[in-house]
Amino acid sequence: MEYRNLGRSGLKVSQMALGTNAFGTRSDEKTGIAIVHAALDAGINLIDTADMYGSGESERIIGLALKGRRSQALIATKCWFPTGDGPNDRGTSRKHIMDAVDASLRRLQTDYIDLYQMHNWDPTTPIEETMRALDDLVRAGKVRYIGCSNFAGWQVVKANAVADRYGWARFISNQPEYSPANRRIEQEVIPACEAEGVGQIVYFPLAGGLFTGKYRRGQAPPEGSRAATQGPRFAQRWLTDANFDLAEAIEAVAAEASVTLPQLTLAWVMARPGITAAIVGASRPEQVAQNVSACTVQVPREALDRVTALSEPFTR
Ligand SMILES: NC(=O)c1ccc[n+]([C@@H]2O[C@H](COP(=O)([O-])OP(=O)(O)OC[C@H]3O[C@@H](n4cnc5c(N)ncnc54)[C@H](OP(=O)(O)O)[C@@H]3O)[C@@H](O)[C@H]2O)c1
Repeated sequence: MEYRNLGRSGLKVSQMALGTNAFGTRSDEKTGIAIVHAALDAGINLIDTADMYGSGESERIIGLALKGRRSQALIATKCWFPTGDGPNDRGTSRKHIMDAVDASLRRLQTDYIDLYQMHNWDPTTPIEETMRALDDLVRAGKVRYIGCSNFAGWQVVKANAVADRYGWARFISNQPEYSPANRRIEQEVIPACEAEGVGQIVYFPLAGGLFTGKYRRGQAPPEGSRAATQGPRFAQRWLTDANFDLAEAIEAVAAEASVTLPQLTLAWVMARPGITAAIVGASRPEQVAQNVSACTVQVPREALDRVTALSEPFTR
């Protein structure tokens, strides 16, 4: 496993991170704990969660899994999505951040969060208020580093400019969507973040599972898969003709290079300029081992270049 500095910080994160949004919904407690242990055993040190995943269950299961292993893991969690019905139970106001971080710490059964991420930009709260609250959390030791998610380039630049003006903690990471089927962050987000020393830890690198090869055009999805459980919503989002064309073309390149479709896809994502880590979700522990093989497999440069060329239409 390769470890990379996250943005302009000294924090070393594994090039593959574990996604846990299936915990508490599609993966029960026992399975979630086994998935976390499989990831740690494979050298993954970054575990991504959010207070809204499984309505808090994801954080609770991670807390159980890390008993006796806390120091091996970097916990990255997030706030922003509603956690209740009240007007202050959402967003990135000082009020909600302070409430949300304490609730996350309780569920995670830890006294610090390694990376605390703002899940989305909050247009109803001044960014000065958000950054000051986050700086207070860093100084209090509840949070060690801060990051954002789904921010536009200008929002990252604005937030860090405010932090610089007052000498507060800066964002070191952004968490956007990225895969061969969605390269839009290359236009504006990555250049802005590179200028700011902000690394990308990217979600949906397998396009929800499309690039595992388990979904085939015109065939019913395998039982228990995300497509089978989420139904038409998943199919409309991911299983489109354009996406199947792309996956089939990448699979042909993978076969020529004697690697699998998910290995080539993940190796490509992790090799892209500006990308620090790919956050790969798993609903079963065996999937972690399969996905981690993409970190060690030898992929010829030419195969990576062909994926870049094939997915060029997905940069827009
Ligand atoms: N910041 C944000 O707004 C945001 C948004 C979404 C996600 N995220 C984060 O990013 C993580 C990754 O997202 P994701 O899990 O949805 O995307 P993904 O990595 O594109 O898809 C992973 C899914 O594919 C299937 N899969 C994975 N490995 C497999 C294998 N080896 N063989 C067969 N199937 C396999 C699993 O689903 P099934 O087995 O159920 O089919 C798994 O849940 C999330 O867990 C979360 O931590 C963040």
